[in-house]
Amino acid sequence: MQTLTILGLESSCDDTAAAVVRDVPGAGAQILSSVVEGQAALHSDFGGVVPEIAARAHAEKLDICVEQALSQAGLTLSQIDAIAVTAGPGLIGGVLSGVMCARGIAAGAGLPLIGVNHLAGHALTPRLTDGLTFPYLMLLVSGGHCQFLIVHGAQDYNRLGGTIDDAPGEAFDKTARLLGLDQPGGPAVEVCAGQGDAQRFAFPRPLLNRPGCDMSFSGLKTALLRTRDMLIHDQGGITQQDRADLCAGFQAAICDVLVEKTRRALIEYASLAPDRPAFAIAGGVAANRAIRAGLETLCTEQAIAFVAPPLSLCTDNAAMIAWAGIELFRSGQYDGSSLIARPRWPLDQTAPALLGSGKKGAKA
Ligand code: KG4
Ligand code: ZN
Repeated sequence: MQTLTILGLESSCDDTAAAVVRDVPGAGAQILSSVVEGQAALHSDFGGVVPEIAARAHAEKLDICVEQALSQAGLTLSQIDAIAVTAGPGLIGGVLSGVMCARGIAAGAGLPLIGVNHLAGHALTPRLTDGLTFPYLMLLVSGGHCQFLIVHGAQDYNRLGGTIDDAPGEAFDKTARLLGLDQPGGPAVEVCAGQGDAQRFAFPRPLLNRPGCDMSFSGLKTALLRTRDMLIHDQGGITQQDRADLCAGFQAAICDVLVEKTRRALIEYASLAPDRPAFAIAGGVAANRAIRAGLETLCTEQAIAFVAPPLSLCTDNAAMIAWAGIELFRSGQYDGSSLIARPRWPLDQTAPALLGSGKKGAKA
C-alpha cells in the first residue's frame, strides 16, 4: 500500500473547511492541517443558517481555506495525491460551492477527485482518531443529524434508527432561544443546567415506550415552552433558578433518551458478535459532558469500548472528509469531473426515509 496525502474540502452547512491528511501504511494517519472557518456571525441575526448567505460565504472562503491548509501542512498541490470533497447531503448551495471548487483544483492540478458523503466523514472519524476496526456502532448526534449506524465498512452502513423530527442540537439551540441564552445553545444550556435541579420539572422522554431506536425531540421543546409560559403566567417572569432548573430537566430528558436508545442499539450490534466491540459518538452534541458520561457509563456496564473523538473532530471539519477520501481511494472508489452535489444522500440506502429534516437542511 502506498502512502496517501489527501486534501479535503467541507462546505455542507455553516463551516468552510479544508484539511490535509496523510496515511502511512503501518504507521497510521496524521492530520497535517485542519482549517475551519465558521459562519456563526453571519447567521446570528436570523435565528438559523440562511442557505444563500452560507453558499456565498463558502464560495468566498473555500480557496482561502485551501491555501491555508496547504501552507500549514508545508505542502504544495504537487505533493497531494487526490482531492476529497463533501458532495452531500447538506444545504445544496454550500455543497455546490465545495464541489465546484474541488473540481477546479482537481482539473487544474490533474488530480483524482473523490466525492464524500458528509455523514460518512463523521461516521469514519473514529478510525482516523482511534484506529477502530469494523464493525462498530456509531451515534451521530449534532445540530443537523441524529442516527444510530452500524459501520461495517467505508461504504457499508446499517441505520438502526434516528430522529423522526428535530436533531438534539437543534432542540438545545431552541431551548437556549426560549430562555434567552446565547447561541449555539448547547454549551449555554449545559452550563446553566449545572446550577439546576433536574427533578423539579417532569419533561417527557418521547418514544421510550415504543420499541426500536427511533427518537423524537420536538415534543420536548414544546413541553419546555409550555412550562416556561406557565411560570411567566404564575410569577410574572422567570428567575435565574427557574432557568437553570428548566435547562437541567431538559438536558436530563435528552440524556435519558439517548442512553436508553443506545442500550437498544447495542443489543442489535452485539448480535454481530464483533471481535472488539466498540461504540463511538460524533457530532457537536457529543461534547455535552452529561451525555458523554451517561453513554460512557452504559458502555462500561456492557463491557464495550467507548470512543469519543476530540471535539474539533466531532464538529464539522475537513480532516474527516480527507480521511473518508483516503478510505474510498484505497478501495478504488473515486469520481471524475462529472461529480455532482446531492442534497440528500442517506448512508444506508435500504433504510426507510426518516421524517425529520433538521434545521440545517434535509440530511437523510
Ligand atoms: O456537529 P455540529 O458542529 O454541526 C452540525 O450540526 O453539523 O453541531 C452543532 C450542534 C449545535 O446545535 C450545538 O448547540 C450543539 O451541537 N452543541 C452542544 C454542545 N456543544 C455543541 N449540545 C449540547 N451540549 C454541548 N456542550
Ligand atoms: Zn456534520
